[in-house]
Order: sequence, then structure tokens, then C-alpha cells
Amino acid sequence: MMASAIAEGLALDKKSAAHFCIYDRHPEKLEKISALWLERFTVSASLKDAIVEADVVVLLVKPKDLTQAISELKAFLPKSALLLSCAAGIEIATIEKAVGKPWPVARAMPNIAVRSKSGAAALYFGKSCVIPRDRERVQAIFGELGELFELQDEQEFHVATALLGSGPAFYLSFLESMAQSGAALGLDPKDARRFARVACVGAAALLQSSEEPEEIRARITSAKGTTMAGLEALQNAKLPHVVDLAIKAACERSKQLAQENL
Ligand SMILES: NC(=O)c1ccc[n+]([C@@H]2O[C@H](COP(=O)([O-])OP(=O)(O)OC[C@H]3O[C@@H](n4cnc5c(N)ncnc54)[C@H](OP(=O)(O)O)[C@@H]3O)[C@@H](O)[C@H]2O)c1
Repeated sequence: MMASAIAEGLALDKKSAAHFCIYDRHPEKLEKISALWLERFTVSASLKDAIVEADVVVLLVKPKDLTQAISELKAFLPKSALLLSCAAGIEIATIEKAVGKPWPVARAMPNIAVRSKSGAAALYFGKSCVIPRDRERVQAIFGELGELFELQDEQEFHVATALLGSGPAFYLSFLESMAQSGAALGLDPKDARRFARVACVGAAALLQSSEEPEEIRARITSAKGTTMAGLEALQNAKLPHVVDLAIKAACERSKQLAQENL
């Protein structure tokens, strides 16, 4: 899913020169990607052929599959190739252990909005990533797809994963709850979903300005108005606490994934 989101985002940029060769153990999943833009993407039925000439090998498998995937590819890994993992939780030390020797490894935590080039990615480079060109290649891939945030401490990846990686799903969950309330109050469920959706899109558009979210919210909240009534209800129901629980749970899960895959 994340691989196709990245490919779809990259396919929107017809100017970039970087070429991607994609491999998956399910060839049928590659058909959609290969139809995107053939000059930029080739698909390979062979893992070896996919990576043997690569400058950067991007790993987009579930965290539980990462060590196995590395053990399958390490025999073909070109000496100069950087390994770039997008797996939640898995630390660079674990990846280097799977390779069996110190290796240039970077981590990226993109979010699903990379599909429309409005995403973001947190990046972290391991100590063996010393060649500036390697870093630039990683920055170029994700820089095409949205905002980049380079972390200086790998431990920050857990919270970056919770906010930036899982965050879109949390906002969507809020949207679903709003739509359910609208339907419960008598709207046609389809309309309720549409109204909740346009409200979300509108909020995202407002964030394109340089104003802080708090300033925008204050500006659009009239004293004693409907918005203020709703916001007070959210505060009384301890929304900040509920959100804190979600972020901490996602962060903890990232830490667990790191431990489970040591
Ligand atoms: N989804 C998000 O929003 C998001 C955000 C940030 C980061 N990520 C990270 O992105 C990574 C990929 O997640 P996803 O949801 O895109 O996973 P996914 O949909 O399961 O895609 C992974 C694909 O890789 C295949 N695969 C697994 N092991 C393989 C191997 N050894 N060789 C070749 N192919 C192999 C899988 O096959 P099977 O189906 O047979 O396993 C599957 O087709 C995860 O590590 C996740 O933490 C995801």
C-alpha cells in the first residue's frame, strides 16, 4: 500500500530523472504500478534484477517481514547501495544486524498523503551514512512527495511515527465520528459524511496559510456561538486527554515493534 502510494506520488512529477525498479513477491500487485509511468518505473519478477544496480534499496514491507526480506536480498546488495527502510519501529541497529555488517542505512516514516504529493516524511540517517550523495538521494525521493523532517535522534522516530505516520488515520477517525453524529441527528448518512469531509478539507486548506491553528480556530469561533458550544463540549469531554492516549498508544506500539524485532 505504501509502495503504491509513493509510486503514485512520484509518477506525478514528470521532470524527475530518478528511476525505480520495483519488486514484490506478488507480481500481480505490480501491474497497477507498472501502468503508471513506464519511463520512471520498471517492475521486476526477480529480486536480484531489481536491486543489483540500485543506488538506494527502499524496503517497504511490514515490520515483521523486514529481517526476512533483508536476509533474502543481502546476497545481491551492491556494495555502494544505501538501504532505506520505511518500516515502523525497526531500528537501524536491527537492520545492520540483519545485513551482518555495518551498512549505510536510513529510515523514513512517510505518511499516506505522499500519494498526492501533500505528504510528509521523517528521515533519520544511521552513522554509516557518510556519503552526502546517499543522503541527497533519499532527500530527493521524499522531497518530491511533501515536507521533510530530518531527525537527529532515532528515538524521536517513535513519536514522529505516531504523529506524522499514523496521524492522517486519527483525523479520519475524527471525521467518521462527526459523520456518525450528523447521521444520528437526522441527516442522510451520505450527506453527513460529505459535510464532515468538506469540513476536514476546509480545515486543511486553512492550514496552508502562515497562521497558527490556534489563531485560525480563535478567529472562526464567535463568542457564545455554535462553534464555541461544540469546542467547550470537546474540552469538557477531555479531548486533549483522549488524543494524548491515542498518540501515546501509537508511540508505545512503535517501541514494541522495535523490541519484538531486535
Ligand atoms: N500504511 C501507512 O500509512 C504507512 C505509513 C508509514 C510507514 N508505513 C510502513 O510501510 C511498510 C509497508 O506497509 P504497507 O502497509 O504498505 O505493507 P503491505 O501493503 O503489506 O505491502 C508490503 C508488500 O511486500 C510484500 N512482501 C513482504 N515480504 C516480502 C519479501 N520478503 N519479498 C518481497 N515482497 C515481500 C508483501 O507481501 P505479503 O502480502 O505476502 O506479506 C506485500 O505485498 C510498513 O513497514 C509500514 O510500517 C506504512
